[in-house]
Amino acid sequence: MTRTGPAAAAARTADAFARLHGARPDGVWSAPGRVNLIGEHTDYNDGFALPMALPQATRVAARRRDDGLLRLYSAQSGEDRTTELRVTDLVPGAVPGWARYPAGTVWALAGAGHQVGGADLYVDSDVPAGAGLSSSAALECAVAVAYDDLYGLGLPGPELARTAQRAENAFAGVPCGVMDQMASVCCTEGAALHLDSRSLEHRQVPFGLDPHGLVLLVVDTRVRHDLADGAYAALRAGCERAAGLLGLPALRDLAPGELGAALDRLPAELAPLVRHVVTENARVTEAVRLLAAGDTPALGPLLTAGHASLREDYRVSCAETDLAVDTAVAAGALGARMTGGGFGGSVIALVPAARADGVRGAVTEAFRRAGHRAPAVLRAVPSAGAARIA
Ligand code: GLA
Repeated sequence: MTRTGPAAAAARTADAFARLHGARPDGVWSAPGRVNLIGEHTDYNDGFALPMALPQATRVAARRRDDGLLRLYSAQSGEDRTTELRVTDLVPGAVPGWARYPAGTVWALAGAGHQVGGADLYVDSDVPAGAGLSSSAALECAVAVAYDDLYGLGLPGPELARTAQRAENAFAGVPCGVMDQMASVCCTEGAALHLDSRSLEHRQVPFGLDPHGLVLLVVDTRVRHDLADGAYAALRAGCERAAGLLGLPALRDLAPGELGAALDRLPAELAPLVRHVVTENARVTEAVRLLAAGDTPALGPLLTAGHASLREDYRVSCAETDLAVDTAVAAGALGARMTGGGFGGSVIALVPAARADGVRGAVTEAFRRAGHRAPAVLRAVPSAGAARIA
């Protein structure tokens, strides 16, 4: 019988490390993927978000080396070879493929002045890549917490998250915000993370589904996106330009009551971006209020309104995400929206437990009829953030 659960996964990862590297690891660390409940494309505008960690996680078995070598192996890369790098030689742009995320994290730690050297790493993950569930953040954050322990750095969670984000921005060349890394490091079981992306202040907001007879489904549309492909960077640049034209440090500083007047002052191509960011920040505040009041079902319409804003104003949805949202809502979901950067990826749906099978079946059937690839549907429960697991 195959054992399941984090302890069994940790033991398997440690055993695989030992077979590959010929010695036991010093430990095994894990960092989860995430879904964002609400607050999309707000993080790089210094705004608010409400992500939660998934049970799906990336595990890193690691052993410190004192010769400055970083030796990387991934069970998912399909390469079946160890990438060997020298920590002092790491430079942005020089490491291709998946290895740029762990290498970038070590580079970012060293660049921040921390005394870090080499390590042997074995990476194993069940976060699907390219599904909008933050597989790259999970990898960076697992390496960051492993190094934090291996080299006795004792860094607080937000600093580890910022370091992981720097790896992605400056080493891997992806201009993402900080939400995914904050979610992966700072989330706790049973809660969503109310994040202020400017100060990195964060608060755990209890997010119980069972007591309300609800489930959160994640529909992976199997449409793969690549945040480095320029569209994300263009949106981010558009927001920054709009904030500049309005004389604001960031769009976070535009209050909902000032939105109308601000839109009149902006060029036609920027106004919808600003409308999305300002209304989306307000939706985060409202979602947190609803959860605090124990009214989890009322989150549904807010999710669907957020999707409409991403589709109409921010224009980051696609035919598959729109179909998944519309079908889920028609089949009894209280609300649904795309989650993550967009251009494909995943949709979340808040569904009465009794309707979960119906929603899953309806979405699968709608995809079949439209000629799309079969979606993968999983159930999300709010899970723990990054930690040492063995
Ligand atoms: C991606 C980025 C995040 C965030 C979301 C959109 O997941 O990595 O920083 O910008 O898109 O909310």
